[in-house]
Amino acid sequence: MSDVLKLAEKLYENRSLSVDEYEKLIIYRNDECTRYIMAKAGEVRKNIYGNSVFIRGLIEISNICKNNCYYCGIRGGNTNCERYRLTPEEILDCCKDGYASGFRTFVLQGGEDNFFTDDVLCELIGKIKSLFPDCAVTLSLGERSKESYQKLYDAGADRYLLRHETADEVLYSKLHPVGMKLQSRLECLKNLKEIGFQTGCGFMVGAPFQTVSHIAKDLKFIEEFQPHMCGIGPFIPHKDTVFKDEKSGSAELTCYLLSIIRLICPNVLLPSTTALDTVDEKGCEKGILSGANVVMPNLSPENVRGKYNLYNNKKFTGVQSAKDLESLKNRMKKIGFQVLCDRGDVIKISDGK
Ligand code: 5AD
Repeated sequence: MSDVLKLAEKLYENRSLSVDEYEKLIIYRNDECTRYIMAKAGEVRKNIYGNSVFIRGLIEISNICKNNCYYCGIRGGNTNCERYRLTPEEILDCCKDGYASGFRTFVLQGGEDNFFTDDVLCELIGKIKSLFPDCAVTLSLGERSKESYQKLYDAGADRYLLRHETADEVLYSKLHPVGMKLQSRLECLKNLKEIGFQTGCGFMVGAPFQTVSHIAKDLKFIEEFQPHMCGIGPFIPHKDTVFKDEKSGSAELTCYLLSIIRLICPNVLLPSTTALDTVDEKGCEKGILSGANVVMPNLSPENVRGKYNLYNNKKFTGVQSAKDLESLKNRMKKIGFQVLCDRGDVIKISDGK
């Protein structure tokens, strides 16, 4: 048996490897090992979640952002970006439409926009929860103080997504301007978990300057942090950033990493991301077949679509009608999966296997 396959078996059995071993598992991957990891990831996911794929309605509430992350198309310094912000009423309308289509989780994602104070958000979350008590609310609104996160949680928010972007301080500083620190990001993630949020971290695959040893560190971080959710997708350049001429991350490596993450955290809620579907026509399906179990179609209103451009050529997978939802269901059915509309909370497992 090849050494790399031995490592894959070790990962399956222990759900843990050293950083060095993660690095080898990536560098020396071959067809045999990829097939093994993918099959095991599928098996592990099936034992916990069956053949269900959870759907979340993504509402991109604002592309106004005070940060200036070098890779991101909506970075504050991009003067070519046409800015918008949904009003709380518009956001509620998206939830109403989404609810009617069957969605039971809404993800409110946006740039770090000062308009969305704790008061504004708490009132909005309260309204969503009282109109749709059977729905989960997920927030993805960047770094905030612990007090702020606590208020949002007390108002009824259930989950929070905040990608760590990279677990390596030096790489973090190459992707973000001075002033943004990995330490603060990790502090936020710790706070979110302590408060009781189902918490998601994640990173981009193939980001500029990223090496396999950085990715190995990300995997170790995920193993130690034990997130409830984990968002990974290929980096894709955006024309108005310094990384405009860099190449995109690969779908193949992204899928391999999805399988590895499934084996590290068997019960993790793992989306097959829009970025993956953007770099590969069958990206969504490939992600699910690699161990992902979440898809996040877009519920943002028509007039702002195309303005939330984190990267170029972003694919739009919207579910604006029952017909769209049917076609997503069919896409999943074709690969043996069933779309589930319920809240889709993380399943707790006692012995972990
Ligand atoms: N390519 C791929 N993903 C990106 N993100 C931001 N910019 C890009 C890009 N150019 C990701 C970041 C962020 C999430 C909302 O989108 O990881 O956390």
